[in-house]
Amino acid sequence: MIVIDNVLTAQELSFLRSQLRKADWAQGISAGSQARLAKHNLQVAEDSAVLPEMRMTVLRALNRSEQLLTAALPFKILPPNFNRYTGDTNRYGPHTDSTLRPLPDGGYLRTDVSATLFLSPPEDYEGGELSIQDSYGSHSAKLPAGSLVVYPSGSIHEVRPVTRGERLACYMFMQSLVKDAEQRRELYQMDMSLISLRRKHGDDDPDLIALTGLYNNLLRRWSEC
Ligand code: NI
Repeated sequence: MIVIDNVLTAQELSFLRSQLRKADWAQGISAGSQARLAKHNLQVAEDSAVLPEMRMTVLRALNRSEQLLTAALPFKILPPNFNRYTGDTNRYGPHTDSTLRPLPDGGYLRTDVSATLFLSPPEDYEGGELSIQDSYGSHSAKLPAGSLVVYPSGSIHEVRPVTRGERLACYMFMQSLVKDAEQRRELYQMDMSLISLRRKHGDDDPDLIALTGLYNNLLRRWSEC
């Protein structure tokens, strides 16, 4: 699980929040059969007029994030969706995200990486933590509005009941160049160390050039697409 702060600018966040006030909401779509039973929230209807511009806003913001790029190594990103947890539709019980998701232009995307972009400030609601179980134990995220959490789609995760207020969020699925979560994590750690070393020693340190080459060759070797 990786947290990326301030993915959205203040303007983007207020734009998305204002659009969500105009959105049409629908129940229980976009989940596999087990996940559908666990899903008790609302999401912006696929034919809602505000959806295309909101999706573009989020995708533009994702593309700016170097940390997301290296953490997820995205090959394809499904158009993001937006959800709301409040009242009777206030939770999403434990589930894994189904592996195959239909793409808008035909074919399927294999979900490797899931991400949640928080759109409500944490003080707006009680509960609503995203809880994720991975091989290192259970982690919980309730982030400032505009921050993103990235986690393996195959991990069991849930959104705890929202017992007061409203939790707005955006979620999305990605097919990664590297489908194995452990390999992705190792590449992420290696790249973050390389970034930090470059800051200390400069871009032209010969050992760093060699190590960066090794990182790229490993990514090339482990890439599926
Ligand atoms: Ni999920």
